[in-house]
Amino acid sequence: MDAAASPDTLGIRIEPIAAVHIDNFHRTLDVVAREKKYLSMLEAPPLPQTREFVMGMIAKGNPQFVATAEGEVVGWCDISRHFFPSRAHRGRLGMGVLPAYRGRGLGRRLIETALKAAQEAGFVRVELDVYEDNAGAIALYEKVGFAPEGIVRRAACIDGRFIDAISMALLFDERGFS
Ligand SMILES: CC(C)(COP(=O)(O)OP(=O)(O)OC[C@H]1O[C@@H](n2cnc3c(N)ncnc32)[C@H](O)[C@@H]1OP(=O)(O)O)[C@@H](O)C(=O)NCCC(=O)NCCS
Repeated sequence: MDAAASPDTLGIRIEPIAAVHIDNFHRTLDVVAREKKYLSMLEAPPLPQTREFVMGMIAKGNPQFVATAEGEVVGWCDISRHFFPSRAHRGRLGMGVLPAYRGRGLGRRLIETALKAAQEAGFVRVELDVYEDNAGAIALYEKVGFAPEGIVRRAACIDGRFIDAISMALLFDERGFS
């Protein structure tokens, strides 16, 4: 069994998302979105839209993994392939872990598993935007090989506060990621 897929000492597994996880994933996404500090969305999209997104990810073979504790989804990481053929070598990464499960290495297990799958699926580049005050996520991205590419000024406006974002990307050939 892949090390990332095997349960850790707390019994938390990293596994490819499946239809059975969708309701739970939707709840977890909603909790992290409603923190209003980290994600573009401020609440999860309606469940049918989330279901369509996940089933589309599975159908396209895009990497999407969940961390599960006793069957409950407590975190996720997904990499969506760009739509345009000229950009199909690029993937956009999104992730989150429930507050109670942060700081235990789950984010790292999730992102490393998703990046490995992305590399195997032929992605050349994985990119994301992260709010400049999200120190935990920035630290994690740097640790796994992402580099900053620029600042998106006033990228978001949440409750009247503008937030800049850092554009980051990982190029598999450049980073020697394995
Ligand atoms: C970002 C997030 C996914 C990280 O998941 P996590 O499970 O808390 O992260 P981990 O415990 O795996 O830590 C990953 C690494 O980052 C480091 N790290 C975490 N927070 C840090 C901080 N504030 N400063 C410095 N390093 C930090 C850890 O030490 C760890 O390094 P190590 O693997 O060398 O020990 C999680 O905190 C989260 O869900 N945040 C809210 C949602 C979010 O920000 N999503 C991303 C939007 S771009």
